[in-house]
Amino acid sequence: MKLHSLLLGVAALALSASVAAQQPIVIKFSHVVAQDTPKGKASEFFAKRAGELTKGKVKVEVYANSTLYKDKEEMEALQLGAVQMLAPSLAKFGPLGVKEFEVFDLPFIFDNYTELHKVTQGPVGAKLLAKLEPKGIKGLAYWDNGFKSFSANKPLKAPADFKGQKMRIQSSKVLESQMRSVGAIPQVMAFSEVYQALQTGVVDGTENPHSNLYTQKMHEVQKHMTLTEHGYLGYAVITNKKFWDGLPADVRGQLEQAMKEATDFANKSAKEDNDAALEKVKASGKTQIYTPTAEERLALKRAMVKTHKEMESRIGKETIEAVYKETGFDPSKL
Ligand code: LMR
Repeated sequence: MKLHSLLLGVAALALSASVAAQQPIVIKFSHVVAQDTPKGKASEFFAKRAGELTKGKVKVEVYANSTLYKDKEEMEALQLGAVQMLAPSLAKFGPLGVKEFEVFDLPFIFDNYTELHKVTQGPVGAKLLAKLEPKGIKGLAYWDNGFKSFSANKPLKAPADFKGQKMRIQSSKVLESQMRSVGAIPQVMAFSEVYQALQTGVVDGTENPHSNLYTQKMHEVQKHMTLTEHGYLGYAVITNKKFWDGLPADVRGQLEQAMKEATDFANKSAKEDNDAALEKVKASGKTQIYTPTAEERLALKRAMVKTHKEMESRIGKETIEAVYKETGFDPSKL
């Protein structure tokens, strides 16, 4: 009898050890946008490739649309280890104390994706990601979204049109300064709250890449949109450093490969997604879309570029100049 129960015990132990060995490592990946956006699709792509390349040793669970955490909470959750991966907008790292990332928010600093990629795929981008490590965060990649346009319930063509407009922004001091440069009143708000704030008139307008505007249905509550494409919105994919460093080396290597593939996918398809979203906004007929003339865009640029100098002490002159050097931007030539 004694031997029998001993054998049973040994068998139970072996079983639970093998179950433990088969338990996948779970990565919770939380984000705030819809699934059908550049970030939504890239995170799903990463989840799929991570599963395939690790042969099921890793299971990435993607939580879209702020279903797990909203903007501010997700950063805290990552540091606490309640979630293992995020891809916050580069405009959302200031509250963490890494203000240099706000260089990406400077209005008109990038004319196109090619200029931007010189930064995100070069040494300047790598140096910025390294600044996250003392916060217990490891930066894995940059993922594109796209260039933002302004929307409101009145046409915004000239700088004077912005005066007194309450404009929702992400939590970035640079975006605050950008809005103030044309007399608008900036209001920081979590992404998940923007639709309702626009609908109820808590704010008058906002700025978005077209994919975000369309998938959150903001075009249904904004009468006008101006294709200014005045600033960039993109992401840093980040993970909890302790979690990442604690992964078995082979698994970490496979995840790095999955991330590389997801990054290529994201950065190849983001522009297409934004162009397609704009077409859908146009087809909806709910928002009047205005394309500014070259003169109108230049007037807006001249008004908003003040922000670059104003934000120098916050972002750091060195970081701003490093970006100018990569892109060829010269504010004295405006
Ligand atoms: C926003 O808050 O407008 C964006 O950062 C949302 C996102 O993640 O694209």
